[in-house]
Amino acid sequence: MNRIDEVWKKLKQHAFRMKSISLSELCSNESRFQKYSVQFEQMLLDYSKEKVDDGVMQELQSLAHLCELETEREKLFGGELVNFTEQRRVLHMALRGGTDANLTINGKNVIREVESVLDKFLEFAESVRTGGHLTVTGERFTDVINIGIGGSDLGPSMVTEALASWHDGPNLHFISNIDGDQIFSILKNLNCKTTLIIVSSKSMTTRETIHNFETALDWLKNGLGEKFGHHLAAVSTNLKATREYRIDDSRVFPFWDWVGGRYSVWSAIGLPVAIATGRKTFKEFLAGARAMDKHFRTAPATENMPVLYALLGIWRRNAMNWPTVAVIPYSHCLNKFPAYIQQLDMESNGKNITRQGVPVNHPTGPLIWGEPGTNSQHSFFQWLHQGTDITPVDFIFAANGNPGNESRRYKSHHQQLITNAVAQSSALAFGQNREQVAASMQAAGCSDEEIKRLSPYRAFNGDRPSTVILFDCLTPYQLGKLIALYEHKVFVQGVIWNINSYDQWGVELGKRLADELSPAITDRDFSQEIDASTRGLIKAIHHFRDSSG
Ligand code: F6P
Repeated sequence: MNRIDEVWKKLKQHAFRMKSISLSELCSNESRFQKYSVQFEQMLLDYSKEKVDDGVMQELQSLAHLCELETEREKLFGGELVNFTEQRRVLHMALRGGTDANLTINGKNVIREVESVLDKFLEFAESVRTGGHLTVTGERFTDVINIGIGGSDLGPSMVTEALASWHDGPNLHFISNIDGDQIFSILKNLNCKTTLIIVSSKSMTTRETIHNFETALDWLKNGLGEKFGHHLAAVSTNLKATREYRIDDSRVFPFWDWVGGRYSVWSAIGLPVAIATGRKTFKEFLAGARAMDKHFRTAPATENMPVLYALLGIWRRNAMNWPTVAVIPYSHCLNKFPAYIQQLDMESNGKNITRQGVPVNHPTGPLIWGEPGTNSQHSFFQWLHQGTDITPVDFIFAANGNPGNESRRYKSHHQQLITNAVAQSSALAFGQNREQVAASMQAAGCSDEEIKRLSPYRAFNGDRPSTVILFDCLTPYQLGKLIALYEHKVFVQGVIWNINSYDQWGVELGKRLADELSPAITDRDFSQEIDASTRGLIKAIHHFRDSSG
């Protein structure tokens, strides 16, 4: 057995041991919080309600060390071909100045190029905001539509919504789904004469984006005639395609093949954020991520927030065998954060082949899901508390509400919001036994008969783990840090699971089949070989279409 396998085995033994030690027992130790939390600037990772102790944490640290985390991290930051299946570097940190200042690729100073594109797209954003770039009739743009999907949508839409308090530019709209109901419901409420369209696609080959963009182009051309091009901008690595759509090069903002789609919000893909919130805010957002890059690269492993967070994920997934993680922001502005992390985490670490090309022999990335609190408390929290499966929860919240609303009522909303987050993490961890239930029912005036009848249903063990990510305020800076924390966590876990976190071959087959099946669905052309099940389904589609006239 090699040393890594030995550590895995020891972790399993620790898991067996920890099953008989409750969180109530662990948290009765006065030094628990101090020992099992880590602070970086005004951000805290509190993992004192995870089922870990010193023995567990030491073993997890040895695992990271044996997997050569430090060496792999330097390969990442040093610009090696970490995404080896696509022969690409992984350098989204360079977009926020988080790599070495003199990074050179193929003889070109990457940082200088990044800075020049950053200046260019921030300049354009400012000109849309302040009227430097006007509509064909010389008016200000009132609305901006971003057309993209996956990383070319989730990043800018999540961040724009998260920074709602900083949004003082034109209205923003995001079109991603190929479902015509989305695009037509947005277009019908907009005036093309005052609308700017940004097509965001790294490849400019994504079916959904191209189809949506061509629909939006028709809409623009109908309203503006030959001058439609003035209302277009693009973010892409495919300049040939943007030229074919007659998008003026001065409004095409490139990025590079070393920026993965799900890591691209820091690039010109963030243009909608910059248009909504302005140059200064966007730069603060980058600065937050840069600070997390530096922390990740330099802090010792035992105090390193992304490393610790990743190791807890390994513990949950591989030792305790919990297959899912609920990400619950107590912030309505972070409404889209769970969906964003879903792509980041699951597209990165949903892999079953090692870096050596053989099947992995342990589970990899968990299912990530979630919704903001307190809404989710009134939907699936029942399941989290009393369901038969255990799902660790990540609670994310800010001590202060967003700036801009000084009213006493707003402050009381925020107090209640975060009180709920704290209460839920406590309820998950400690539950309530029958005696506690009886006492509270008695205090509420229930009869002895009621107490006897209902207490089995109302009691629950707790012992369900959670981690809290707390920060002072959801500022652009803290949001940048938060996203970068997750990005680096994903990297560390990929190293430990020995997988390539930066490709996404699993999504390719479905795309190809959609192309192949299109003639049968659209034109009843069954000349392609189609399996019996799928052929039957397609015929049923035609039958339903025919019978509904
Ligand atoms: O779904 C696969 C994917 O390639 C994502 O990784 C990416 O974010 C999305 O499609 C959109 O790709 P593009 O920006 O090239 O249109």
